[in-house]
Amino acid sequence: MVTLGIVLMKNKRSSQWFQTPGYHGMARRAWLRSEGYPADVFDGKPIIGICNSWSELTNCNAHLREVAAAVKRGVLAAGGIPLEFPTISLGEMFMLPTTMMFRNLMAMDVEESIRANPMDAVVLLCGCDKTTPAQLMGAASADVPAIVVPGGPMLAGTFQGQRLGSGTDGRKLFDLYRTGKLNDEEWSEVEGCIARTSGHCTVMGTASTMTSLAEALGMTLPGSASIPAPDSRRMANAELSGRAAVELIEADLTPSRILTRDAFENAITVLMALGGSTNAVVHLIAIAGRVGIRLTLDDFDRIARKTPCIANVKPSGEYLMEDLFHAGGVPAVMNRISGLLHGDCVTVNRKSIGDNVATMVSQDDKVIRQLSAEGGIAILYGNLAPDGAVIKVTAASAELLKHRGRAYVFETRDQMMAEIDRDDLPVDRNSILVMRNCGPKGAPGFPEWGHIPMPKKLLQQGVTDMVRISDARMSGTSFGTVILHVAPESAVGGPLAIVQTGDEIELDVEARKLELAISPQVMQDRLSRFVAPKRQYERGYGRLFLDHVTQAHLGCDFDFLMPEVIK
Ligand code: FES
Repeated sequence: MVTLGIVLMKNKRSSQWFQTPGYHGMARRAWLRSEGYPADVFDGKPIIGICNSWSELTNCNAHLREVAAAVKRGVLAAGGIPLEFPTISLGEMFMLPTTMMFRNLMAMDVEESIRANPMDAVVLLCGCDKTTPAQLMGAASADVPAIVVPGGPMLAGTFQGQRLGSGTDGRKLFDLYRTGKLNDEEWSEVEGCIARTSGHCTVMGTASTMTSLAEALGMTLPGSASIPAPDSRRMANAELSGRAAVELIEADLTPSRILTRDAFENAITVLMALGGSTNAVVHLIAIAGRVGIRLTLDDFDRIARKTPCIANVKPSGEYLMEDLFHAGGVPAVMNRISGLLHGDCVTVNRKSIGDNVATMVSQDDKVIRQLSAEGGIAILYGNLAPDGAVIKVTAASAELLKHRGRAYVFETRDQMMAEIDRDDLPVDRNSILVMRNCGPKGAPGFPEWGHIPMPKKLLQQGVTDMVRISDARMSGTSFGTVILHVAPESAVGGPLAIVQTGDEIELDVEARKLELAISPQVMQDRLSRFVAPKRQYERGYGRLFLDHVTQAHLGCDFDFLMPEVIK
């Protein structure tokens, strides 16, 4: 006889599907049983969705089916039924024009997949840059109990005796290759070893930053973010997370109860302490927006000024994510700055974040040590960026943080790429490179084009950094004195649109200032002659994106996905 477990399941979300009287309840049970489940699968057991961003087109997440298998073991051990489902995945290396264009699409996919399906809790498997914020945004909007399981970083590669951090060191070596200091054979060797295992980039790039911030928000089990992908403890963590997902249901611990303003302030504090990716500014604003919390750029700058950067991890420092793991991971970083955190924020293991990190002292003070008294990211304002711009101070050159120079303007990235290696490019070490039409609507999609390569002629003179300004983002693995996310962007008539080659620009990071040295009258006159560039999409998702994406300082979410309370 089939036991339906109606009493046990009446309070569960999944009972709306499987306990419906009459034909529909029978049909749903029958169709699920077609996958080979016995009748007692409906006998009061919680159903745990496993939202998998696995894809062979997302190499950083390509091992997540094995991670899902470990999560399933945990769910089954805790008495639940795991049901794995796919969503769109976002592979940083392959998607054109940029994964950022599709973050909101994935967030919608995640949200509606959770909302539309019979699950009592969901485990979110992520890794590559945008997959983590997209899953958090979707899960926050669906507000079904959720836990994040990151796929973990790669292990380091080794080239000519040097440990390589994927992303950061590739760029440095490419400059050597461009200037003839590495030959073709050596360059090919780099290709073979720089991404040598499963997992995401192993520096404190956007992937490592966002999984670390998921942990700081309380959405992972403690210590989840830094365990390397090939490490056996990655699978053990996944199994434990599967068990924890079942326990979330009884506690009714939904994302909206975890993702509080205090939790976001903790995440911003950890972002600064880690010297994390500038992309996290955009993503945290968007995730917070989904639960009706308005984070502003000023929140980031305020917290940066009182938070030391203490993670000696590339690109800000010397080490890699696996070193941070051995040093105690994010819990050890949070332990070191516990006085700056809201310790009573609840997390997915039902304990407070303060309790989770209370005994997690650093195991390696070379890796967890102060790099700077203030956080890694600063927010700049001025007549060139009325709604703000972002700079990663810890990845910049100290001597350029206060600088005045003449602009050399690239109208588009294509123009920049065509000109940057010209021997007669009219720039010197004091010039400021400006690139426009690279923002959310202009590029479109807000790509990671902001790390404008150093002009070849300057590299050959031994100049390795200069001030560069754009309305683009930058990979979290990049470095240099690079000003990003200028808002409003040039394509909607922000002042970046009217900078002319030869104009003087003044940067003063200490004063948080970014000024174009022209008079208000000249600024007004030039802006009055602004002509918007031609829209690049008239149909499909591209059109939806152009019609609804918000500016960088608002998180680039779609306006119709944000709750009314923060519009
Ligand atoms: Fe996926 Fe770097 S390419 S994290």
